[in-house]
Amino acid sequence: MHFTQIPILKLAPRHLLAFAYEAWTPFRSYHPVPIVFSQAKGSSIWDPEGNKYLDFLSAYSAVNQGHCHPKIVKALLEQAERLTLSSRAFYNDRFPIFAEHLTSMFGYEMVLPMNTGAEGVETTLKLARKWGYEKKKIPKDEAIIVSCCGCFHGRTLAVISMSCDNEATRGFGPLLPGHLKVDFGDEVALEKIFKEKGDRIAGFLFEPIQGEAGVIIPPDGYLKAVRDLCSKYNILMVADEIQTGLARTGRMLACDWEEVRPDVVILGKALRGGVVPVSAVLADKDVMLCIRPGEHGSTFGENPLASAVAAASLEVIRDERLAERSAKMGEELRHQLNKVQQQFPNVIKEVRGKGLFNAVELNTKNLFPVSAYDICIKLKERGILAKPTHDTIVQLTPPLCMSLEELPEGSKALHDVLQIDLPEM
Ligand SMILES: Cc1ncc(COP(=O)(O)O)c(C=O)c1O
Repeated sequence: MHFTQIPILKLAPRHLLAFAYEAWTPFRSYHPVPIVFSQAKGSSIWDPEGNKYLDFLSAYSAVNQGHCHPKIVKALLEQAERLTLSSRAFYNDRFPIFAEHLTSMFGYEMVLPMNTGAEGVETTLKLARKWGYEKKKIPKDEAIIVSCCGCFHGRTLAVISMSCDNEATRGFGPLLPGHLKVDFGDEVALEKIFKEKGDRIAGFLFEPIQGEAGVIIPPDGYLKAVRDLCSKYNILMVADEIQTGLARTGRMLACDWEEVRPDVVILGKALRGGVVPVSAVLADKDVMLCIRPGEHGSTFGENPLASAVAAASLEVIRDERLAERSAKMGEELRHQLNKVQQQFPNVIKEVRGKGLFNAVELNTKNLFPVSAYDICIKLKERGILAKPTHDTIVQLTPPLCMSLEELPEGSKALHDVLQIDLPEM
């Protein structure tokens, strides 16, 4: 197939569009639910035939504000007509506004902007190593980063070097040295590793709630324990809040649930309002200034278009009180899902979440050979778009703007799939 055929696809029916994806990109590993997005607004998605669906994934929390939010789109269009790129050889008049918004909102002295979430994580790995050598005096080339089993921080080579997932790492070796793993949520294991190797550990990188692993919530008090241990052993506490941050869990940061302040925070996803790639690393000067001019950056980092979009995305989160909304709506969603669990206790093992960051864990033994993916296909046929994680978990993370009338559609569809469709599957 040749690339000149692309324009024809504008007129092609849905199945041909899906086929074209498979033919032209190697990235089938996501195993998408077969629906083609053509238009979206708020919590609603339409396919090319005009069928409407409710979004219960939010592009992995990248559209917390809802699809095509008018204020974010307006900021994009206005900025696109004025200036889109200065490169980092010059200054632009938009980045300082975004930087001021972001640092004052989260109470950090400095921000280092990047594009994708994985680049944000890469940035923190370099930053933590540099801080380790300059401030902690770790011997040359011996710095260690500790991360958690089951983590997901992106797909670049440095980042997959921290992964325990064979699918992410197989065929890409040699991986980067200087990484150690610890069980997520286990403060005793964390202290053990800090005690044994603390003099060479520069940073502990973790998700406050593990997203891709299936919305895994650590025991109460874990975040506080991490803070105390990192302070005790002089190790940077680095929170990857790319998915959990920006109101998703019912607080601006998931670390706010235990009133804990990490040394470094990584943001992405909803920082872009679902529009253009922006990620950011937040830290105070004593950490951030370990990176000097010329040592890190990106041509599109700090670009005025992304800065205008990100500033508007933050304003929407603040003005529409999306954190409070997420906390309240999350309680309601879990209440509805728990009722479904009571009706199907053999099929649903657990309902868990914080704010609108939720998962339903299925009982594979009782469900076999039906998988979470099959359940998501049936949900889609009932107008609900959700994402399977592993074979057993359905992640439910709707846009935070979803209305109270729309919200019960998710649990109703799950009920109907289990009651009506499952016996036929
Ligand atoms: C916690 C976390 N970190 C990092 C990333 C990587 O972000 P990106 O896909 O923008 O590179 C993701 C993406 O899902 C994520 O969930």
